Amino acid sequence: MTSTQVAIIGGGPAGLLLARLLQLSGIDCMLLEKRSRAYVLSRIRAGLLEQGTVDLLKDVGCGERLQREAMFHHGCDFVYFGETLRVPLTDLTGKVVTIYGQTEVTRDLMDAHAGAGTPCHYETDVVRIDDVTGDRPRVVYVQDGREHTLSCDWVAGCDGYHGVARQSIPTDTLRTFERVYPFGWLGILADVPPCSHELIYANHRDGFALATMRSATRTRAYIQVPNDARLDDWSDDRFWDEYKRRLGPAAANVVTGPSIEKSIAPLRSFVAEPMRYGRLLLAGDAAHIVPPTGAKGLNLAVADVRRLGEALDSFYRTKSPALIDAYSDAALARVWKAVRFSWSLTRLMHLFPDMDGFDRAIQRSEFDYLKGSRAAQTALAENYVGLPYV
Ligand code: APR
Ligand code: PHB
Repeated sequence: MTSTQVAIIGGGPAGLLLARLLQLSGIDCMLLEKRSRAYVLSRIRAGLLEQGTVDLLKDVGCGERLQREAMFHHGCDFVYFGETLRVPLTDLTGKVVTIYGQTEVTRDLMDAHAGAGTPCHYETDVVRIDDVTGDRPRVVYVQDGREHTLSCDWVAGCDGYHGVARQSIPTDTLRTFERVYPFGWLGILADVPPCSHELIYANHRDGFALATMRSATRTRAYIQVPNDARLDDWSDDRFWDEYKRRLGPAAANVVTGPSIEKSIAPLRSFVAEPMRYGRLLLAGDAAHIVPPTGAKGLNLAVADVRRLGEALDSFYRTKSPALIDAYSDAALARVWKAVRFSWSLTRLMHLFPDMDGFDRAIQRSEFDYLKGSRAAQTALAENYVGLPYV
């Protein structure tokens, strides 16, 4: 039986970053990722980083390419039925947001691990966790068709929404909270210049659209589609036409081109409590999902992992479990704020199929209030750029 101090399940951004933090603290860990390295790198996700996320990536030695290639934004646009409001994020909060694809964050973390002694094992499928309430839990995994066991002090469940970690918490202990939205986002990536130098969130009679980017030559664009939408029904031409119709004034600057990626993501809010059970600690999508409106998913995973890394570091340095004991409640306090923010931005900027005149009037008045109130814009900006770590 192999043995380590911390077994990390999942090699998405949460698992990779935790492994990096633990290595820098001199804590022995082993990361088990079901998929191949290439598969993990092929997943296209959001691309907006809070200042706290960027600072931590720099601290762990993953800031060099980011500093060179990322774009730094000082505001973003909200368009409501053709009317534009620019929220001056930096003027209101003193912070910037960083545009840098999550795929690039993943690649930088993988590269940082690539030297001798990488703790990451790919194509390694964790099937169950045994004795999670004992002193030495065991992670059982399959590699090359053979079953193996890893014994450890702590298990970090960084295995995403569909992983096994959360499922190891008994149903009479686990509480889940969920909102499934009646639409998804159809997103494309194309090698055409962005239509604006900042992001544009648009609410239109026919639904939401978002103009974002990966670089000065690569556009990421999304539109709201019904939950039963099929990719095959969305040619590039149909996508661009619909996107331009919804985007408002910036549509005139849209340059179209062939998509290099196209996918549909459903929207949901989900929280699992507690984030710790015995010697199992959950982080990232394994414990919570937010809709992409506001791009909190990765940033929230990073905030969890930062706290978890500190708690484990303190445990091994001082032998006190105090920070580990505090982990779940402290992490959940931030999680619920991000869940609330992304839910409220989703409500403000989308067409809900069951909306009546009253709902529309409330939505419009929320936009009008935002437009007229520096206080309301500050509240939005504070959440958008990322709440301070406490
Ligand atoms: N054994 C090993 N690995 C597993 C298992 C398993 N049984 N089940 C899932 N995994 C792996 C997945 O293959 C995936 O690579 O866990 C990883 C979880 O990664 P993400 O889904 O990216 O979740 P997380 O790291 O929490 O990322 C948080 O980044 O990926 C985005 O949408 C995500 O924005 C969110 C943020
Ligand atoms: C992205 O760049 O993919 C992105 C940006 C902001 C969001 C969601 C996605 O709110």
